[in-house]
Amino acid sequence: MDKENSNKELRSHSWFAPADEKLGFINRSWLRNQGCPDDYFTGRPVIGICNTWSELTPCNAHLRDFADMVKRGVLEAGGVPFEFPVTSMGETLMRPTAMLFRNLASMDTEESIRANPLDGVVLLTGCDKTTPSTIMGACSVDLPTIVVPGGPMLNGRYKGELIGSGTFAWKIKEKMSNENFTKKDLSEAEVCNSRSAGHCMTMGTASTMACMAEALGLTLPGAAAIPAVDSRKKLLAQLSGRRIVQMVKEDLTLSKILTRKAFENAIVVNAAVGGSTNFIIHLQAIAGRIGVDLELQDFDKLGSHIPLLVNLMPSGKFLMEDFFYAGGLPAVIRELKDKIHNEAITVNGNAIGENNLDAECYNREVISTVVDPFQEEAGIAVLYGNLCENGAVIKPSAASPDLMVHSGKAVVFESIEDCHARIDDPELDIDENSVIVLQGVGPVGYPGMAEVGNVSLPVKLIKKGVKDMVRISDGRMSGTAFGTVVLHVSPESAIGGTLALVKTGDIIELDVPNRRMELKVSDEELKKRRDNWKAPESKYDRGYVNLYIKTVEQSHLGADLDFLVGKSGSEVLRHSH
Ligand code: FES
Repeated sequence: MDKENSNKELRSHSWFAPADEKLGFINRSWLRNQGCPDDYFTGRPVIGICNTWSELTPCNAHLRDFADMVKRGVLEAGGVPFEFPVTSMGETLMRPTAMLFRNLASMDTEESIRANPLDGVVLLTGCDKTTPSTIMGACSVDLPTIVVPGGPMLNGRYKGELIGSGTFAWKIKEKMSNENFTKKDLSEAEVCNSRSAGHCMTMGTASTMACMAEALGLTLPGAAAIPAVDSRKKLLAQLSGRRIVQMVKEDLTLSKILTRKAFENAIVVNAAVGGSTNFIIHLQAIAGRIGVDLELQDFDKLGSHIPLLVNLMPSGKFLMEDFFYAGGLPAVIRELKDKIHNEAITVNGNAIGENNLDAECYNREVISTVVDPFQEEAGIAVLYGNLCENGAVIKPSAASPDLMVHSGKAVVFESIEDCHARIDDPELDIDENSVIVLQGVGPVGYPGMAEVGNVSLPVKLIKKGVKDMVRISDGRMSGTAFGTVVLHVSPESAIGGTLALVKTGDIIELDVPNRRMELKVSDEELKKRRDNWKAPESKYDRGYVNLYIKTVEQSHLGADLDFLVGKSGSEVLRHSH
């Protein structure tokens, strides 16, 4: 690895020191209104701080402070920082689903980076989609780039009980059907659930994405688990600011870090931490941008035999703050040293194995050894069969072992609204052996592939003590959720996948150990149903959503827009003046 490649002309040079004096004047002069001295334009690396801060993305609401710390680090290392905003996505508030806008935000990030006089980029991320979207966009430009994850909230605590963001929310229906849980309790639990700045503190999608970024080598070591309000997080931002300036000098671009080996490492680490199923769709989209081949089966092949080393909700009992105190991701990566590519290079210029060589674990209740894991096999299982020709996924560590092989009668809902309207109907013919099938929640169908796959169980069954049932959909599930939930069925129902043809009463066989999921209906009958099937009419005839529906790829490919896959590099062929 070249430690310094200072001969390469800075990209920003063509803005600030061009042969055309008029152009140089225009590019420099307007920036001067922020007080930039002469030396800002004379060969110092210009660093963009890509900020997903937004008050409507509560998980990222603290990132302005972090940007200041990054700026400090950039200036200390001799660079020049400029902070810029990109589309932010708050998981809890955005409708119909934040995922609909991941690709839009990635486009915003890509074009903002390329169009401006930047030599390197720092991505400030937090809530679920803000990490993959910005990485995807940055990949399509391929400048030196470092990620600063915003960090998880402090542990939730309610009446002495440890409560995890999201994980607790999924139990509200159950709690509210209990007379002892009042509205006042609910209000108190809301505050206790979100005690500080930061993102969800379970091993939900945001934590999974932070771990993904660290495992890919895109953060400084140990970044993922540091709580948002811990002073070490600010220090991380400052050091990342220093480091990106060096990365520019070394020309350490994203494509030099994001090799196939880095992706394989991320899959192994994700399995060991019990990461979210959303990891699959985002990692594939990132791989598609940087140009690394990654198939859905790779997640099963490389990850499903990896032991679960982290005891965090929703699979386990602790939270991210505990994970940090126990040693965080470095302790996990060190434990996995015989299962990862230790030589994969990271943003600090060192190999991942080298970075984590001396990492210690301080609490074996939270991070186990490979020899004595919390579960022998974690990771994600990829299913195939006539119900999911291109694949479907399930997270066995969040599911019920006794439902891993199951056969039951389908109870079909055509949409999430249909489900909400009927699931609690006392007359609904459903029992604990039924298989809940939810159609119309895939990338095209919802649109945006909402996190509604973990359908709440019928109240009448909850009251009987039923805790889990098999649920199947073409949608996603929050990383904070749990249950025997088959997701990402591809092709999805809205484009005529077999899922669209399932009828209430059909038998569905789920066999996770053998990676099969079958609809027990004859080919002849299926053909008849297919011939009679009509695609649902789209309600979106204009704007971004219309573009999304027409160009989104299916979930087994990462659900990127087809024209965004790949990269165009950082070159801009024409000036604006
Ligand atoms: Fe933002 Fe969970 S809602 S990370």
